[in-house]
Amino acid sequence: MARLIPCQWRQLILSLICLLLIISCHSSPLTGVKSLKVATDPTFIPFEIQTANGNLEGFDIDLMKAIAKVAGLTVQFESLPFDGMISTLQANRVDAAISGITITAERRKTISFSRPYFQAGLAITVRQDNQDIQDLNSLQGKKIAVQIGSTGADFAKTIPNVKITTFNSGSEFFQDLINGNVDAVISDAFATLYAIKNGNLQGLKVIENLLTQEYYGIATPHDSPHLEAINQGIAALLSNGTYKQIYQKWFNAEPPKLPETP
Ligand code: ARG
Repeated sequence: MARLIPCQWRQLILSLICLLLIISCHSSPLTGVKSLKVATDPTFIPFEIQTANGNLEGFDIDLMKAIAKVAGLTVQFESLPFDGMISTLQANRVDAAISGITITAERRKTISFSRPYFQAGLAITVRQDNQDIQDLNSLQGKKIAVQIGSTGADFAKTIPNVKITTFNSGSEFFQDLINGNVDAVISDAFATLYAIKNGNLQGLKVIENLLTQEYYGIATPHDSPHLEAINQGIAALLSNGTYKQIYQKWFNAEPPKLPETP
């Protein structure tokens, strides 16, 4: 009898382990579902916004969640400054980034992009009482604020004799313009127009809307195993009406037709 006890214990423990395994498999519907770590810079309203209680909201956030849903993935967002996003992707520290990132040939040398998910472009913003700057030509020799590492920053460098001040986030460069430290901001048109319309940027006006035509893409490291699923997800949302719904929710307008390549 005494010799049987260890054996019975072993059987009991083995059965318990089996039971626990069965229970854990059934009680976790997410078992086997890949979770994507997605970087975002939540200072780009209305694409990515951090609410007062720390939640993320915005067009990009809704879109990324919807893509994950159709692709059978889950998303874990990670907040990162915009300027560090490309090197973080290159180092494979995140699986993807969604942050109103413009697809450019230069960026494509180091990271990959999904098919375009948003038609965008740059705009020039000045103070409402400014009569002096009417268009792109009148920016020559002026002081301009831009976001570090953005397409707005690249564009500003092409204007003769300008003095460029760089900032980490949208709220900072617009504040500099409001304070009168710079004459203009060059940044993404949709985000700027949204902020002006919603009263977040008072005393400013956009004088040149859509200086450039750009497309946003979801960025991944080169050779990402997830890019195909992300692209299929975007295609599915474009054809099943979800993209249109998300666009209307944030921009109150019909979305333009997106090309498959920029
Ligand atoms: N579209 C611009 C770019 O790619 C600016 C994007 C800024 N996005 C952000 N989350 N701060 O350079």
